[in-house]
Amino acid sequence: MATSEAILQVLLPRLHHSDLCTNSLNSVHTIKANVNNRRIKIPVSMQVHSCSRKSQNCRRRVYALWSRDSVFHEKTDVGRLESMGCQCQQAEGVSGLTTEDQNETRFKGKTRRPTSNPINGTSSAPSIEGYEVGQQLKHEKGDHVRNGKAAAAGTTKDKLDRGGVNVIEDEAWNLLRNSIVYYCNNQVGTIAANDPSSNSILNYDQVFIRDFIPSGIAFLLKGEYDIVRNFILHTLQLQSWEKTMDCYSPGQGLMPASFKVRTVPLDGDDSATEDVLDPDFGEAAIGRVAPVDSGLWWIILLRAYGKCSGDLSLQERIDVQTGIKMILKLCLADGFDMFPTLLVTDGSCMIDRRMGIHGHPLEIQALFYSALLSAREMLAPEDASADHIQALNNRLIALSFHVREYYWIDMRKINEIYRYKTEEYSYDAVNKFNIYPDQIPSWLVEFMPSKGGYLIGNLQPAHMDFRFFSLGNLWSIVSSLATVDQSHAILDLIEAKWDELVADMPFKICYPALQGQEWQIITGSDPKNTPWSYHNGGSWPTLLWQLTVACIKMNRPEVGLKAVEVAERRISQDKWPEYYDTKRARFIGKQARLYQTWSIAGYLVAKLLLANPSAAKSLVNEEDSELVNAFSSMISANPRRKRVRRRQSFII
Ligand code: GLC
Repeated sequence: MATSEAILQVLLPRLHHSDLCTNSLNSVHTIKANVNNRRIKIPVSMQVHSCSRKSQNCRRRVYALWSRDSVFHEKTDVGRLESMGCQCQQAEGVSGLTTEDQNETRFKGKTRRPTSNPINGTSSAPSIEGYEVGQQLKHEKGDHVRNGKAAAAGTTKDKLDRGGVNVIEDEAWNLLRNSIVYYCNNQVGTIAANDPSSNSILNYDQVFIRDFIPSGIAFLLKGEYDIVRNFILHTLQLQSWEKTMDCYSPGQGLMPASFKVRTVPLDGDDSATEDVLDPDFGEAAIGRVAPVDSGLWWIILLRAYGKCSGDLSLQERIDVQTGIKMILKLCLADGFDMFPTLLVTDGSCMIDRRMGIHGHPLEIQALFYSALLSAREMLAPEDASADHIQALNNRLIALSFHVREYYWIDMRKINEIYRYKTEEYSYDAVNKFNIYPDQIPSWLVEFMPSKGGYLIGNLQPAHMDFRFFSLGNLWSIVSSLATVDQSHAILDLIEAKWDELVADMPFKICYPALQGQEWQIITGSDPKNTPWSYHNGGSWPTLLWQLTVACIKMNRPEVGLKAVEVAERRISQDKWPEYYDTKRARFIGKQARLYQTWSIAGYLVAKLLLANPSAAKSLVNEEDSELVNAFSSMISANPRRKRVRRRQSFII
């Protein structure tokens, strides 16, 4: 690590982020940082070039800052810099810097603005005249719904097609727009839920990275790119720098699970407030879970942004390139692991509490694969990237081989496992992971259709988690982690098991639920995860969008359409719940939030894609022929068939 960067990290532990934005030229500013819950101030000198923001007088340019000998300096080589163009609006970074330099520019400053009262955790919309935000809002037809008040009117049938307009979709758009969070008058994300009936907000008033993905995609598909760009840049600035949990640091490069925009009084000035971005890396989250999926989703969204908007300049920026590399570095770091799959703790993804998914859960592997492919596409072709690309290729090949071979089950494979020999000590073992056939659960015999199959939830030594996890399977299709045949087989299984996986509301998060002693031991008797509720076999409408992308990719959109039609029967009347309970998803979830943003956005993305299936390309990773070739070589070298002692290297 370069000295300046090291110094920076000592000096700038987790920052309370706000744009560098001031009224005076060459003024010395403070950046707030949070060390062991203490706010500290670090003086930062900055150069201000212009001040032209109409309403608040604070448009300016902030140039790169760098540190040497514990002192922050202005960057003198101004010619090399592109302005951050703060304008109290955009987290524009610096390009044209060396990687090392630009790492040091991820500072936030503060912006003055008149006091605004947050509405339900969402910073109130600013006076928008003259802002792009205003332009976007003006596109909208009809009144905005606050807290979903308009949601209950009319029967579902009425709502479906009143005068050729899909009323449910209109309502969903209004609700989605009302969930938008502003930071320095810019749209930067959407809150997790906007439920007026709930008296316990917990962290549902925050912008969750994973929850924003369907929101972001809905905006992209609608041609509204700024909110996604802002989200990408602001979350990039939050990417982990320093210790956050009881003196222990998450790996550098970790993206937060969520962030909150706080409007706080400006120091020394009671008449003004500033917006502060406050990230949570899991240190405040229930269970203190590490959000491994955040960075992976971030990369996937970044690629989708480029594909939808045609604006590749965002992914080409040096700070964004560095952000990608930091995530990759964290994920590709060597450890003790023998497997190419990513080793994580329980609750590291959408299922963010104890559900027995620690180890190598499928969801993380599918997102990992997709993020690796997407990163490979976006990394700038320069010398420094060559090693990354090689590491990526090697991992991609090994990962796809491992998952396709060892996670896959269908009738044939279960039968093979049923007859496994155990305790095989040899290089050529068939039962490599020493799986005891008695592990095959009785429900699986009923559940597995004769046509179809799926990827199991997790694989560890002597342990196969046979549960069906939806997101992992759907995203394996989308990312081409599953082969074409496997992808069709997964959709065959979904069709064959419609009553179990969809029933009255798509889509079951996993199947089946843990019950009895298993529930006690695996969830720790979690009252939120009782059988067929929440993560434990609950049904989550947000999964509609991933289902739809998967179906469109496999040219079977009718399956996605059927699921959307099921959802439309009640989702709006039920006020867009976060999840449903019971085996057939008949009840609104016991503790489900209403007006859950990703339920709304998931529905909208599904609708938008079904109306324009070719748009799904921006989300899909097509199978890479070079990987396929390398994969076939591995298959022929597989010890199950014949062990080849020669060490192979697969460098593309
Ligand atoms: C729940 C979900 C998680 C989601 C969060 C905010 O904790 O398990 O996946 O991100 O709510 O909606």
